[in-house]
Amino acid sequence: MLEIKSLKKSYTQGNQEVKIFEDLNFQVKEAQRVAIMGKSGSGKSTLLSLISGIIKPNSGDIILNNTSYKTMNESEINDFRASNIGFVFQNFHLVSYLNALENVMLPAKVNNIENAKEKAIELLKSVGLSHRLDHLPSQLSGGERQRVAIARALIHNPKVILADEPSGNLDEETGIAVMDKLFELIKANNTTLILVTHSKEVAARCEDTYELVSGNLKKC
Ligand SMILES: Nc1ncnc2c1ncn2[C@@H]1O[C@H](COP(=O)(O)OP(=O)(O)OP(=O)(O)O)[C@@H](O)[C@H]1O
Ligand SMILES: [Mg+2]
Repeated sequence: MLEIKSLKKSYTQGNQEVKIFEDLNFQVKEAQRVAIMGKSGSGKSTLLSLISGIIKPNSGDIILNNTSYKTMNESEINDFRASNIGFVFQNFHLVSYLNALENVMLPAKVNNIENAKEKAIELLKSVGLSHRLDHLPSQLSGGERQRVAIARALIHNPKVILADEPSGNLDEETGIAVMDKLFELIKANNTTLILVTHSKEVAARCEDTYELVSGNLKKC
């Protein structure tokens, strides 16, 4: 489903090279749920950005759903991402001038999915937000924003969900409720999940947990 081959990634900071991955190899099967843990600064968000094609590696390749990123130009990667990947960002990244319903509808519109509005309403209902459809992000609580972000990541039925500390900013009770909903929806759709988390409890919901250490993923 996902194959990472000999991936090398470094950032250039001034005249210094910050090496993140020198030779990363990794595989995830279809419908597998994988948790990635690791110290702050170990490269977890960088890895998700590489998998989503938002940033490019120095060398190596990523193959998602039988498609090699090497074979795609930038606009092809953008289209590929829009139809295959759902991203739940650590700090939500909702569009501030769109209400909850419009935020959730966005990926469906990009993908020309029919009945986008009905689907968005259904998803928002399933995350307990049918009474908040016309609220702007600034008029929602942190937990509500995160639930909107999860609904948005799922509306186009992506093959894979990438989630970067999706319960990071939530109180324990809300965090558990949001995770319950995320796992319920991805199980129902056989979606592959790659979840970055600092929480052992959240990681335990996944079939496999890896720790990112010195640019390598070690199975826990
Ligand atoms: N654009 C950039 N330019 C230079 N260095 C960067 C850039 N982005 C990230 N880094 C560095 O790369 C390292 C890995 O960053 P990354 O955001 O992937 O870590 P992380 O594991 O997600 O950390 P956290 O748990 O704090 O979110 C960090 O040391 C960071 O300072
Ligand atoms: Mg991070």
